Amino acid sequence: MQSHTSAPGKIILCGEHAVVYGRPAIALPLSKIRARASVAPGAAGIGIRFDAPNLGRRWLLAAAPGDPLSELTLATLKQLGITRIPDIQITITSDIPIASGMGSGAAIATAIVRALATAFGRNLSAAEISALVYASEQRYHGTPSGIDNTVIAYEQAIWFQRRSEPPHLIEPLPIAAPFTLVIGDTGVRSATRLPVGEVRRRWQEDPARYEALFDLVADVVHQARHALARGDVATLGPLLDRNQEALEQIGVSSPELERLITAARRAGAAGAKLSGGGWGGVMIALVDPETVVSVREALLAVGAARVLETTVSASA
Ligand code: PMV
Repeated sequence: MQSHTSAPGKIILCGEHAVVYGRPAIALPLSKIRARASVAPGAAGIGIRFDAPNLGRRWLLAAAPGDPLSELTLATLKQLGITRIPDIQITITSDIPIASGMGSGAAIATAIVRALATAFGRNLSAAEISALVYASEQRYHGTPSGIDNTVIAYEQAIWFQRRSEPPHLIEPLPIAAPFTLVIGDTGVRSATRLPVGEVRRRWQEDPARYEALFDLVADVVHQARHALARGDVATLGPLLDRNQEALEQIGVSSPELERLITAARRAGAAGAKLSGGGWGGVMIALVDPETVVSVREALLAVGAARVLETTVSASA
């Protein structure tokens, strides 16, 4: 009964926000930036103890049964058919910055579910893990589309479309040629539920305008899918720019994001946009081997809190 597991961060290549309203989106796992969970035997009679040193938290399940990660743990044990609360220690660590659009919450939750399943010698499918994490995300975010838990639990590039009733449309995304993204973090923490809530308020006020913007995003996402399937990376850059324009009109960009996006384009990126909920968090820029270093440097020069890089490989 000892297990160490992990789950990746993620970025949304295109389609965020519109995806909440049934339009498709493309998300990519970040395999090198991960959350980790381990399960080990705990002190007898204590029940479940959580220790999350880099979140600055430590708690006992019995003392905080309503905590989202406590609830996730209880739901997972139930799914595993474990009816008595075991005496275990769950340790959580993560390299993924929180509230930055990189799926930190869903990755931590996925790592915990995997660690519990492994510790008790059970197998959960990606779909089962994703469903448990989705229920947990709902407790944090209110109306998540389900894209974060899906890309993280399946750990592959996905095409995702929310249906009014599950199952949502989830397809592996064929990528014919590898491409590289530079990820710039504004350092501004932004809880996803805030811009998501504001977009909902604006959509309720002016549904026609927002539906048209979501359709525009959907068109970009369809074109991006075809570009990736053809290995036509050159077409992808302007599509990211168009998605950013729509996100600005939707009202989820910010001066900090736009400072990084402008700097990346000036330094030679083929296209750039915010990624995730917006109002802070990260942006992504499409680069090639000639521009990767200048884009990284430009982002740091205009105040990016951190700069990462991911190369997305070709896939079936
Ligand atoms: O969790 P984030 O910040 O990467 O945002 C998720 C993307 C949204 O479309 C804004 C929300 C959602 O639930 O799909």
